[in-house]
Amino acid sequence: MINIKRYDTPDLKKNEEEIANTLRNSKIPNSELLKNLGLFINPGALGRILFANFLYEKIISYQGIIAEFGSRYGQNLNLFSSLRGIYEPYNRLRKIVGFDTFQGFVDVDKKDQNNKLGDYSVPENYYSELENILTKQEKFSPLSHLKKFELIKGDVSQTLPKYLKKNPHTIFAICYFDLDVYIPTKNVLSIIKNRLSKGTILVFDELNDEDMPGETEAFLEEINVNSISIRRFNPSARTSYCIWGE
Ligand SMILES: C[S@@+](CC[C@H](N)C(=O)[O-])C[C@H]1O[C@@H](n2cnc3c(N)ncnc32)[C@H](O)[C@@H]1O
Repeated sequence: MINIKRYDTPDLKKNEEEIANTLRNSKIPNSELLKNLGLFINPGALGRILFANFLYEKIISYQGIIAEFGSRYGQNLNLFSSLRGIYEPYNRLRKIVGFDTFQGFVDVDKKDQNNKLGDYSVPENYYSELENILTKQEKFSPLSHLKKFELIKGDVSQTLPKYLKKNPHTIFAICYFDLDVYIPTKNVLSIIKNRLSKGTILVFDELNDEDMPGETEAFLEEINVNSISIRRFNPSARTSYCIWGE
């Protein structure tokens, strides 16, 4: 059973369930379904898509890769990949790298009060399904013969050092933190710090959130909060971002 706290009412949950069923059983032919996905998107989901666009526009003139720490079903990875196709189709260096266990939380600290091991897991073999989807999606943009995304499976506290050893040239343009919990968030923040340039964007999904306090605790221990602004993009309600050096 997936333990994800909801903030809506039973009525809205039912509404969402019904729209999701309509999408699964839609009579819209496949040739037109993907072009009409906007029909099924609600304001919360749209806000997150707008946020991805907002972030991407900010990094176009900056060097570096986009990394998402905690990518789960991979929506952000595909959004960033599509945005690269739109805004900078020939930037082969703008790699998009997703880190996830694909098994949910593997290390929950006592600071992570409301979470338990295995929360946010995905269906079996989802990693392969995501690899397949991202490969197909990449074909819609130029330079599709060059693979420009990577999925790194495993505990990011261990996989990130290995990734950086294998890719010592790595500089980050966006680090998207959505691990939710204390230990990996703290470890990643400490590892990436010397690869951020002035202008790199750090994104956080759960800062200042009483339900996921571990992310904020990790942030406060690793970043001097007095020296950086924690900003919000209004259409995306819970997310925050910081621009390194500002
Ligand atoms: C809230 S979900 C991410 C949602 C995703 N970013 C999105 O926007 O749809 C949190 C993810 O963090 C991953 N995660 C948590 N701890 C991890 C760790 N130590 N190493 C790698 N991934 C981890 C979980 O497996 C889970 O998929």
